[in-house]
Amino acid sequence: MSMPEVPRPSGFVRDLAPYDAVSSLSAIDDLPDGVVPLKLDWNESAIPPSPKVIESITAYLGNSHHLNWYSDLGATRLRLALADYSGVGVDNILVTNGSDAALSLVCGSYLDPGDDVVVVWPTYGHFMVFARARGVEPRTAAGEDLFASPTDAVIKELRPDTKMVYFASPNNPTGVVIPPEEVSRMCESHPSTLFLVDEAYYEFSGISSVGLVGQFPNLVVTRTFSKCLGIAGLRVGYLMAGDEVMENLRKLHNPKSVNSLGQIGALAAIQDREFIDSYIEEVRRAGRWLEAALGSRGADARITNANFILVRVADPGLLVSALETEGVFVRDRSHMKGFAGYVRITLGTLEQMKDLIGRIDRLLEKHPALLQPYAG
Ligand SMILES: Cc1ncc(COP(=O)(O)O)c(C=O)c1O
Repeated sequence: MSMPEVPRPSGFVRDLAPYDAVSSLSAIDDLPDGVVPLKLDWNESAIPPSPKVIESITAYLGNSHHLNWYSDLGATRLRLALADYSGVGVDNILVTNGSDAALSLVCGSYLDPGDDVVVVWPTYGHFMVFARARGVEPRTAAGEDLFASPTDAVIKELRPDTKMVYFASPNNPTGVVIPPEEVSRMCESHPSTLFLVDEAYYEFSGISSVGLVGQFPNLVVTRTFSKCLGIAGLRVGYLMAGDEVMENLRKLHNPKSVNSLGQIGALAAIQDREFIDSYIEEVRRAGRWLEAALGSRGADARITNANFILVRVADPGLLVSALETEGVFVRDRSHMKGFAGYVRITLGTLEQMKDLIGRIDRLLEKHPALLQPYAG
């Protein structure tokens, strides 16, 4: 038998392209002194987290033993706070290393090679990686209008053997929300399909399917602390599901994977409801203002149910690179099928959005066609 010269990766991994993780952090480090970056590319919170997060972490670090011990393996205190926040029972919540780890865990626990999986298109790219790593090539469901509810399109794609349906609500990058009544309809009519609902941006829409978790054994809802809660760097997410799904997921879940600083920070963040509510309000206000400001400059701007706005322009590459020269980092989504011309801009505070428009106005003097709408 001839042996390979170097170890071979799994056949499912061999054909994957590395995940395109374009980070603006090094460009931000290289900005000239005095240029304040506007990091609006990854839909993180645009401001630091609640001061209580920093206070709790600092206090925790004051105990010299806390870093050499493992974290609270069951994330018990955090799960209790999450039960209070979500209304889901504490035993039906699992804390994960970012919500990406929750998505990966569900794929790892439920998918076999060749399974049928349907995703709403356009979608969050990393889910595709987790599915492909299990030997699954998801099929996509897209309505004619990518900004309308895709429920009918999903139902049309469902087969009796469809193992899983994944969608984010609000979706990234469209911001479209699938209301719980429609999630309920799908869960009820397809009991052997697992519906994986990614609510990473839930706080900004206020619309959730968690109320259905106790009702449907074929529903998993994931959420994150990386967006509205402001601690993307600490990597904390969670999922909520019925008893049977939880039992299966616990077989693979590594309870050591959620570090202690993440747990401490997340607990403080989730308990500061006043801070959360005021950030949501600020982002909504800033979004309405930015949509109008861009519109009055001739741009085709669309506010979403999440913490980002979309601008559809004739030359997305020009917009993204010109903004970078002004210290502004946004995300070109125009390569996604059916999404030509779209650039995604994370929303921050009203003051930050006014700063953004000031920089855009400077650029418009040099590039008058910067915001020219996409014409097909
Ligand atoms: C829809 C969606 N799900 C999940 C994530 C990942 O979140 P986390 O930082 O919790 O892994 C993102 C991040 O951009 C996202 O947009």
